Amino acid sequence: MLFKQQALLRQKLFVLGSLAIGSVLYLVARVGTLDRLQPICPIESKFSTPGPEQIPLRTLQFKRGVLHERGNVTKEQIRPHNLVQQLPRAIIIGVRKGGTRALLEMLNLHPAVVKASQEIHFFDNDKNYARGIEWYRGKMPYSFPHQITIEKSPAYFITEEVPERIFKMNSSIKLLIIVREPTTRAVSDYTQVLEGKERKNKTYHKFEKLAVDSNTCEVNTKYKAVRTSIYTKHLERWLKYFPVEQFHIVDGDRLITDPLPELQLVEHFLNLPSRISQYNLYFNVTRGFYCLRFNIVFSKCLAGSKGRIHPEVDPAVVTKLQKFFHPFNQKFYQITGRTFNWP
Ligand code: A3P
Repeated sequence: MLFKQQALLRQKLFVLGSLAIGSVLYLVARVGTLDRLQPICPIESKFSTPGPEQIPLRTLQFKRGVLHERGNVTKEQIRPHNLVQQLPRAIIIGVRKGGTRALLEMLNLHPAVVKASQEIHFFDNDKNYARGIEWYRGKMPYSFPHQITIEKSPAYFITEEVPERIFKMNSSIKLLIIVREPTTRAVSDYTQVLEGKERKNKTYHKFEKLAVDSNTCEVNTKYKAVRTSIYTKHLERWLKYFPVEQFHIVDGDRLITDPLPELQLVEHFLNLPSRISQYNLYFNVTRGFYCLRFNIVFSKCLAGSKGRIHPEVDPAVVTKLQKFFHPFNQKFYQITGRTFNWP
């Protein structure tokens, strides 16, 4: 009797075990098939026949030596030996204090984008440039061949030699310029320098003194923070090498208040399927800025050096600067085809 019961139990366990193994095998086979055959989302299927410019999506990203899993990827698909250091296919060339860091970090949310974390200053620094293109490549992060590398060095925008040097590396590279209302950008630039001086216990002039020539009472165009905000002057130098279609202008003011639409425009410009979503961006009330959410576990805000409190500036000086920038802004809109509500 006891023997019969044991045999019955063994039989039941065998049937249950077979069912469990069968289900697991079925799931593995099905997930594998889905991974290979099905587009992940309808948006992706829209892009499923890549044109020459188009960059296929990959679901993995390699950051600081760690592979981060993204989406439906299976472990079998991870082939670290495929990782390469690629020259950038897009560069954020400026503008300093325009929101270049925020833009780079936010684009890095895209599974097909890998950022170079540091500003490399290859094209604007003669010593670095003399080290050659392989030195530059060596500064790039590891990525899969289908991903694109992006770097940002805001000094590129205003440095004389840079357009020609970048052109020599890749004449069809995509160039991103993030701009803010020019007077606000100049004050932000000043605030950064002021903070540096204060850290070293040094004194510094007031913004008004630097921005306006006390002899002529005119805007001081020798002051770098003013010159950098004359966007059209710098852009004109770049246009000697690159057609205007190779540039995309990002609205740095809107990137602060409503980043997603700006990022979607960049995704489109880079021929990437739209993958950055509202889920990836959340407003942090304490910080007063949007922060980044990579997944349920990992999120981050930009460093405290981004989003400083600006000093109060004499309204008469603000108006003077706004009037000064006005005609340059008009020209900038005309050239780029992007108009802003700047005064
Ligand atoms: P302020 O410090 O003047 O506010 P850059 O990275 O080019 O130096 O630009 C810095 C600017 O990025 C900051 O200027 C800040 O306003 C802006 N910015 C845009 N989005 C931001 C974000 N999500 N977090 C912090 N700063 C952001």
